[in-house]
Amino acid sequence: MPDGWSGSDADGDVRARRGREPDSSDGAKTAMDAVRAKLGDCSSCRLSGTRRNLVFGEGDPRSGILVVGEGPGASEDETGRPFVGKAGQLLDRILASIGLDRESCFIANVVKCRPPENRVPSPDEVEACAWVLDAQIDAMQPGVILALGATAVSRLLGIRAPIGQARNSEHSYRGIPVIVTYHPAALLRTPALKRPVWEDVKKLRRLMERGGLPRK
Ligand code: URA
Repeated sequence: MPDGWSGSDADGDVRARRGREPDSSDGAKTAMDAVRAKLGDCSSCRLSGTRRNLVFGEGDPRSGILVVGEGPGASEDETGRPFVGKAGQLLDRILASIGLDRESCFIANVVKCRPPENRVPSPDEVEACAWVLDAQIDAMQPGVILALGATAVSRLLGIRAPIGQARNSEHSYRGIPVIVTYHPAALLRTPALKRPVWEDVKKLRRLMERGGLPRK
C-alpha cells in the first residue's frame, strides 16, 4: 500500500506497461465536446439557480477509464473543475498510486452543479442530470468505471447497500465493468478506509494491465 498515497507504487508507471496508448482518433473527444455543447447553460433543475459554475468533467475521453463522483463542492463550483478540493487532491494521489493522472482518465460527477451546503443531491436532481452522465458514457465508451461513494453507486447500479458491502461484488453498467470504492471524502474522515480503497484501485490496475483499455 503506498505510504500516504504519495505517488506511484513500487511497480512503477502502469501506463507504461499497459501496452496500449490512448486511441489517437478524436471520436470520443468530439462526442464528449458535443455532449458539453448540448448541455449548454443548463437550467433543468434547482441546482442551476445556486451554482457559480457548471462542472462538466475533465480528462481524456479516449482513455477508457471513467471516474464518477457525487457532485461538485465549493472549490469545484468556484473553478468549474471536478475534484480540485481536498478530496480531489487525495483522488489525485490515489490515481497516481496506479500510474494514472487527470489526463489518463476522465473525471465526472453524478450531478454537474453544486448542491447547496454540499448536501447529497436529491433524487430529482440526480434524475435531471442522468442523461448527461449517460451521454458522457456513450461518448467515451469506457472500458471501466470507477464509482466513488454511495451516490455514484446508487446512480449507476441502483443499489443502496453500504460501500463496504457493494465493493465486494462484481458490477456492470450497460455492460461496462464498475469498480466500487469509497469516496475520497470518506477516506479523509476515516483513514482506515485506505486499505480497502487500495485493494479496489488494484482491481482497476489489473483491468488496465489486461490491456482491455481503452475501448475507443
Ligand atoms: N466530490 C465529488 O464527488 N465530486 C467533486 O467533483 C468534488 C468533490
